[in-house]
Amino acid sequence: MTSMRMYDIIHKKREGLALSRAEIEYFIHGYTRGEIPDYQVSALLMAIYFRGLNPEETAALTMAMVDSGDRADLSALPGRKVDKHSTGGVGDKTTLVLAPLVAAAGAPVAKMSGRGLGHTGGTVDKLEAIPGFRVDLTTGEFLAQVRRVGVAVVAQTGQLAPADKKLYALRDVTATVDSIPLIASSIMSKKIASGAGAIVLDVKTGSGAFMQKKEDAFALARAMVDIGKLTGRRTVALVTDMDQPLGRTVGNALEVKEAVETLRGNGPRDLESLCLELGAHLLVLGGVAENTGEAVARLWGLLHHGTALAKFKEFISAQGGDPGVADYPDQLPAAAGRSAAAAPRRGYVTGIDAAKVGRAAMLLGAGRERKDSVIDLAVGLVLNKKVGDRVCEGETLAELHYNARDRLEEAAALLREAYHIGDEAPRQRPLVLGTVN
Ligand code: URA
Repeated sequence: MTSMRMYDIIHKKREGLALSRAEIEYFIHGYTRGEIPDYQVSALLMAIYFRGLNPEETAALTMAMVDSGDRADLSALPGRKVDKHSTGGVGDKTTLVLAPLVAAAGAPVAKMSGRGLGHTGGTVDKLEAIPGFRVDLTTGEFLAQVRRVGVAVVAQTGQLAPADKKLYALRDVTATVDSIPLIASSIMSKKIASGAGAIVLDVKTGSGAFMQKKEDAFALARAMVDIGKLTGRRTVALVTDMDQPLGRTVGNALEVKEAVETLRGNGPRDLESLCLELGAHLLVLGGVAENTGEAVARLWGLLHHGTALAKFKEFISAQGGDPGVADYPDQLPAAAGRSAAAAPRRGYVTGIDAAKVGRAAMLLGAGRERKDSVIDLAVGLVLNKKVGDRVCEGETLAELHYNARDRLEEAAALLREAYHIGDEAPRQRPLVLGTVN
């Protein structure tokens, strides 16, 4: 079909020149089919790492990865399909709140979510903490539920962007993961393949985030918004704080409980306000609200007057789960033991290293160390104190909910290490650091 050679493509990028769409498609499709060897793709990835990709190249790479596999067809559903994606954080249970909330406001939610890995959690694991909940609907069941109930959340299935999967594995062993155009195209390819017509991105920054530096988070947000623009998907990115965990719980069943509290209008302030902000952008992009101000007011009403909670029960029940967990959270899996992490001195909490908190939860069994690790849905952490709170010596900072004792001490030590206590109250950091659109 072509006289292209991988050697020339590598050479061109090495010299800092822009690749054409045809060259990008040639390498992605050839690599997916196993016709281009890892060593040549590794060399190209390293050239991209140093030379970068311009927005057109990044968009072409994204679409080539989308075209490498299956695409969810949501065309049978009415309205513009809006999706939300978080780059991953600790205690981030926003999807559990947002999915029923946004559906209650009239925007259809047809969402594919992932599982947790390392110190970050995943929505699918959290949903599985609800007795009976099925994350593996057939495509027919999935679409019918969105039509009937307005919301369905399932585990990613099929071969969505297999080129990304293969490239990511290679990036992981060639020190080329942390390249902004490669991360941006990786994330966006999966969103577009899962059928999103418009996308709201929550780009986390801080100690528990993939992008620890704020400037990098903004650059990633910009790169993804540019991909959206060039591929015809309206995209908005919020850069948000992950310098401490979101809300007060980390761990699957514990996070479901907190999401339910939030759907009752009794959630922690940071979680509620992030859900309102992200939800407002979802409604505007979905064409069911004029502007974010109006949307926030509407969503607040749905949260505080029981409508979102009623939609949550309907959603859980439709997917085979026990909606009783919304009224009787004791029906969720609970850990056998509790242990307190105490403050070593008096003062103010000046920081909580989210990555350490996430790792502590993982050590208790709440998260996966490896892709095939089995997790314990009941265990996790409850943070009694958050940044800015005053503490006395010996007061409980956080509680560990555990079943196995073997790594409890290690987890407790990590948790104590995560808390920074100083003499003065810290300056309040805003939760939303900026919006890119
Ligand atoms: N998450 C992704 O999905 N891809 C990346 O490249 C990095 C983080």
